[in-house]
Amino acid sequence: MKRIAIFASGSGSNAENIAHYFKSNPEVEISIILSNKKDAFVLERANKLNIPSQSFTRNDFYESNTIVDLLKNKKIDLIVLAGFLWLVPDSLIKAFPNAIVNIHPALLPNYGGKGMYGMNVHNAVITNKDKESGITIHIVNEKYDDGETILQAKCQIEENDTAEDLANKIHDLEYEHFPRAVETYLNKIKK
Ligand code: GAR
Repeated sequence: MKRIAIFASGSGSNAENIAHYFKSNPEVEISIILSNKKDAFVLERANKLNIPSQSFTRNDFYESNTIVDLLKNKKIDLIVLAGFLWLVPDSLIKAFPNAIVNIHPALLPNYGGKGMYGMNVHNAVITNKDKESGITIHIVNEKYDDGETILQAKCQIEENDTAEDLANKIHDLEYEHFPRAVETYLNKIKK
């Protein structure tokens, strides 16, 4: 059995999409969904999906072993950040080396770094009149949006596209590619 923990800060549509993708796979379990926000919609999605979930505080994450211990107790093989907005602490990266992946809603290294998340990214891309954007799935290291790229996929931006139009295109790319990229990477790190 391969075990995944998903971290999300908000809506969690990617978390739900990944959960649906693996539902029919007896080899892979979404063992827990974790959020840094106790009222995040992702926790409601987790309830409906019958996946254990819990929120945690800044103290749990940065000043104690609470989260590392929880993930180790659950024998997690891969951590998936699906719209998770806090910087991952060194202690977690060291406890799960090369076993944390993130999705970023732009073509890194463009539009990465602190403050670059969700609509902030799409607004910046539209303001710059870029002709294309996309998604980057990468391994997480100690800097924001910096680890080795696993996969990028692109979409075109039309002249009249708004930031909301772009957000929809990006979500479509995420739904198409993220679960399969997670599956491929999981097979690579755990036979
Ligand atoms: C996704 O577009 C994801 O790429 C982005 O947040 C959105 C979450 O949507 N992540 C980041 O911006 C991380 N820097 P969701 O909650 O509906 O899955």
